[in-house]
Amino acid sequence: MTTIKTTAPAKINLTLHVTGQRDDGYHELDSLVVFAEVGDNITATRAVDMRLTVSGPFAVGVPTDSSNLMMKAAETLREVRGVKMGAHLHLEKNLPHAAGIGGGSSDAAATLKLLAELWDVEPLGPDHPAVLALGADVPVCARAPKPIRMRGIGEDLHEGPKLPRAAMVLVNPGVEVPTPQAFAGLEQRSNAPMADMPDTYLLPEFLEWLKGQRNDLQAPAEKVAPEITHALKMLNQQLTVQWAGMSGSGATCVALVKDMGVARQVARAIQIREQSWWVVPTPLLS
Ligand code: C5P
Repeated sequence: MTTIKTTAPAKINLTLHVTGQRDDGYHELDSLVVFAEVGDNITATRAVDMRLTVSGPFAVGVPTDSSNLMMKAAETLREVRGVKMGAHLHLEKNLPHAAGIGGGSSDAAATLKLLAELWDVEPLGPDHPAVLALGADVPVCARAPKPIRMRGIGEDLHEGPKLPRAAMVLVNPGVEVPTPQAFAGLEQRSNAPMADMPDTYLLPEFLEWLKGQRNDLQAPAEKVAPEITHALKMLNQQLTVQWAGMSGSGATCVALVKDMGVARQVARAIQIREQSWWVVPTPLLS
């Protein structure tokens, strides 16, 4: 019996500028996407039919039928590559859902890679139209763990500049923000794109640039979930936090700190005060 495994890392938008809206309603973005070490774990075992099982701290409520994005990804690969085999997929769900860190999209992207290996077929590249059809964030997740500047609705991907070594603290205050709801609350359909990123390993230089950028979904997400405002305030009160913002459509907030030692200290300080929150120190992959 062949079983192979992989990790679907959390996707973090350090910036997210909404630069326009297409006729089909999708928004054009300009976003710096990075990946965290923490993620969902996925295994795939050869089988005759397709099956998905789920375990882990956020397993409750995850569908295991064809509505799950992993099952859709499997079906896409089977169709495009003419695969007749099946697989037993298992998802250890470590990331909160509807949390702005691309859990479902990252699972789908990882499943595409894992099943291509299991079934010994050519993988679908991030720019294959069937990958974007799975969800606007699936192509960027297919490029993980490299930092990527993402434009268009999620299909225009460029490897980011070098980034300084840093660690992150991810904080989810336990509220779900449905992505369409955050987009629907935008007050302006079009904003300026990101300023060009500095190509630097120096954290102060990178932070200076980052502090001048935005996440346009933050204001509408804060209306849906005021806990976001509270989480950001708590992170910004920590003297060792260099920058804090919201990822994607929220509600997960992210703090950038110097290294993993500091990340663990900040995470402890937050978790003691908010014991029900999901608080995770994690390296920023680059
Ligand atoms: O493609 P995905 O299923 O991830 O998108 C979920 C929803 O988020 C879309 O139906 C749309 O309302 C919104 N969205 C958007 N512009 C994007 C990505 C998502 O308006 N670039």
